[in-house]
Amino acid sequence: MSNDSKHNPNRRRAIGLIGGGMVLATTGLAGCSSTYPEAAVRAWIAPVEQTDVRRFMLAHALLAPNPHNRQPWLADLRRNDEITLVCDKDRLLPETDPFGRQILIGCGAFIELAVIAAAELGYRVRVDTFPQGEPAANELPGGAVVAKLFLTADASLARDPLFAQIRLRRTNKNAYDNARRLPDALWPQLASSAGAFGLLTGEVSDSDRIERIRLLTRASFATEMTTPRTWLESANLLRIGPAEIEKHRDGISVMGAVPRLMTSFGMFDRFEVPTPGSTGYSQVMERWMPFETGSGYFWIASKGNSRRSQVESGRAYVRAHLQATANGVEMHPLSQALQEFAEVRAQYDALYPLIKLDPAQTTIQMLARVGYAKVAAPPTPRRDLAQMVTA
Ligand SMILES: Cc1cc2nc3c(=O)[nH]c(=O)nc-3n(C[C@H](O)[C@H](O)[C@H](O)COP(=O)(O)O)c2cc1C
Repeated sequence: MSNDSKHNPNRRRAIGLIGGGMVLATTGLAGCSSTYPEAAVRAWIAPVEQTDVRRFMLAHALLAPNPHNRQPWLADLRRNDEITLVCDKDRLLPETDPFGRQILIGCGAFIELAVIAAAELGYRVRVDTFPQGEPAANELPGGAVVAKLFLTADASLARDPLFAQIRLRRTNKNAYDNARRLPDALWPQLASSAGAFGLLTGEVSDSDRIERIRLLTRASFATEMTTPRTWLESANLLRIGPAEIEKHRDGISVMGAVPRLMTSFGMFDRFEVPTPGSTGYSQVMERWMPFETGSGYFWIASKGNSRRSQVESGRAYVRAHLQATANGVEMHPLSQALQEFAEVRAQYDALYPLIKLDPAQTTIQMLARVGYAKVAAPPTPRRDLAQMVTA
């Protein structure tokens, strides 16, 4: 890929025929398989092969949900009975996540899965978050030690029932059933872990506010898609077809036959930024529409916005997601309106009164639609454990 194609947003080719990269994840044609290459999703099977406790923990942890599937984590195993988790400076999202808040949420989810997996083998874990101090609030946390995990064998330790859900959890981005409500008893279950971290949670399940959040999230998505630098950040992470997916095993995977064929014939330019009024823009927004389905929204917020609270939001979020999975319910984060880049400021500001939170006191860390999916989602690619471990 030349620098020219990476950075010139004005190129116009056949995007109008097929829309933006995010449009095309699921289209299938005879002769083109729509399943991810086996090697790219092997991580979802491999954890069972690990016998060393720390590798067992990490092999489960790397299945964590994380923004744009960047997998922004490095693990240092050079000290016995410890894991040092470092935020990978090469796997940040400086345009859409300018302070690395979402990246740290992903690291928090990673930590929580590691802790759950350790309990499965009878190890208690003490998590020391930011042992070298928290990164500044407005700077990217690349290279920061996010946590040290200290292991102690404890035969009396209870296993965590959520362990069984780690390999089954998926972020399902398909349409959900609008007519089906979540059982009332499930909302408090989703919220149950957040209190222990001092976080706030809540649900939006009334049709009036659901509709208002749909409009607001749609507006912020449209803004991210039409802002050249934020579109291009995602475009650079598009992995189109089995060869790119297997090579990178991260980012936004596209297996649809149409984009693959058009990319291979040079007819689809992933670096063309959609502009309002164009066919490409309509198709990007068409792809958005399933994201406006579901039974409601689940949110997690922190008092203030410390780096620790961001990590803990990730821990609480993945527990909620695993709990949902155990109940046959899907969760899909929609982060655009929570993001800190200037162009989505209006939606950011509008979300707080809808959720009934004061932005001067609290920070909404996660907003996810929830519901019952019509179509199952496949496991997403992951890099090998060996690529993130120093031993
Ligand atoms: C902090 C955070 C923010 C996310 N934001 C979005 C989002 O705005 N839109 C989306 O489609 N997925 C979002 N996701 C989900 C990721 O895309 C997903 O976790 C990743 O692709 C890996 O897939 P998996 O969760 O199925 O393993 C987010 C996840 C996290 C942890």
